Parts: sequence; C-alpha cells; structure tokens
Amino acid sequence: NSYTVVLPAAGIGSRMQASIPKQYLQIAGKTVIEHTIAALLSHSRIKSVVVVLHPDDTQFSTLKCADSPQVFTCVGGDERVDSVLSGLRACLATNAQSDNDWVLVHDAARPCVSHDEIDDLLAIQAHSVGGILATPVSDTLKLSSDLSDDIEAPHVQRTVDRTRLWQAQTPQFFPLKELLHAIEQAQQDKIKMTDEASAMEHIGTKVKLVEGRSSNIKITRPSDLSLAEFYLNLNNKQGGN
Ligand code: CTP
Ligand code: MG
Repeated sequence: NSYTVVLPAAGIGSRMQASIPKQYLQIAGKTVIEHTIAALLSHSRIKSVVVVLHPDDTQFSTLKCADSPQVFTCVGGDERVDSVLSGLRACLATNAQSDNDWVLVHDAARPCVSHDEIDDLLAIQAHSVGGILATPVSDTLKLSSDLSDDIEAPHVQRTVDRTRLWQAQTPQFFPLKELLHAIEQAQQDKIKMTDEASAMEHIGTKVKLVEGRSSNIKITRPSDLSLAEFYLNLNNKQGGN
C-alpha cells in the first residue's frame, strides 16, 4: 500500500512573530515546508502530498517542489480543522478512493519527522482503527487559576497527575472516509478540535497511541527554529530521512 498525506499549511504563524508564515522561513538552506515535504515523499510508502494553502498564499508556487507530480494543492480555511477538511475532500476528489483507503495528516510545521516514526505509525493499520504519534508527558503539569478571576499573574490551582498523559503529534493516520465523516459530525456537534483524533474520539473510535520521539517538534515559537535545524541535521546524519 502507498499513502497520501494531507499537509495543512494555511496558518499564519502568529506565535512565531515573523513577517512571513513560519512554513516559509528558511532553515538549513530550505524552507520549513520543503523539509517537511522532502521527509514525507522520501518515504517509500508515501506517494503524494496534498498541501493545503492559505487563500492569499503567493509563496508555495515559487518553490521547486510545487512542480512535482506528487504534490497537489488546495485552499484551506479559518481553523486548522477547516483546512484539514478541505485537504481530505481534495484527496477524495483527485484519487480514485476505495472504501478502505487510509490517509495521513501531518502539520507543515513539523519538518523533523523521521522514517522510523512513520513506519511505526503505518504498522498499526493491520490491527487498529486508527492512531497518532504521541509522546508521554515528562514535565510536572500545573493547572492554573482561572485568569478571568485573577487579575495578577496566574497561580497554581493544582498539580495534574501526568501518569497517563500524552502529547499528541502528527502524523495522524485514519481511514479517509471515516475521518471525513467524523470531522463533519464533530463540527455539527460544535466540538472544538485541535487535531484529527479528537473528531475520531468524538464518534467513539479507539485511537491508538504510537510512541514517537520528542524530536518531532511543531515549529511554533522563534526558539524552535534552531532546535528544528539541530534535529534535521541529526536525522540527515543518521540517514533517517
Ligand atoms: N493550519 C492550517 N490552517 C489554519 C491554521 C493552521 O492549515 N487555519 C496549519 C498550519 O499552517 C500548521 C499546522 O496547521 O502547519 C499547525 O498549526 P499551528 O502550529 O497552530 O500553525 P499556525 O496556526 O500557523 O500558528 P499560530 O497558531 O501560532 O498562529
Ligand atoms: Mg494555529
């Protein structure tokens, strides 16, 4: 089997505070999104990427990878989930899909994903109904006071037990048609979703947690750029991508 990846890249990167969206910032000689697409398409079981772009995007078409026959584009929406939905519909329209086709969804802002992690995630198809890469939480977690009641700096309300807590990453891997249905249902039910798994959980699917690596960071704030560059160099040295 080979798979398509939906790559949401329609965000504006407000937390990065750069003059352009973070997926177009340069690290190690290429834009973030070029690193991400290269990491995906160099995997033998990934055949295509559907890149979901902001309606005003002018930069993607200037990149070399935009001309690849394995790269498709569509236009995203206001929230990440709207962009993912658009990408999933584009997948359904462009590929001849069979009922049991699965799809990967991966953040454009996660260029450091390795082939080993993708292998581990793809392996769940044989024995589960879908899953995500995630890492067990290692820091001690504090629940803060409600900021609306607390005009000064927030204080700790209590410590949260972290023993069963995981941090969700991407890729997330599900049967395409089920994922589409789940997101449409969750939107109708006004569920707030920051990842695909939330929609699948909402319709009662048992989502598998596949332990990934802490190096698969989502570039979010300025200090993440040099960290991502470090991990990309490490992946290259280890031949991971
Ligand atoms: N994304 C998207 N459509 C949106 C919002 C986000 O396709 N309406 C994408 C981003 O481009 C990114 C991924 O979803 O690749 C993860 O989102 P996030 O890290 O939150 O990126 P931004 O929304 O761009 O950043 P911020 O939240 O700091 O503004
Ligand atoms: Mg965002």
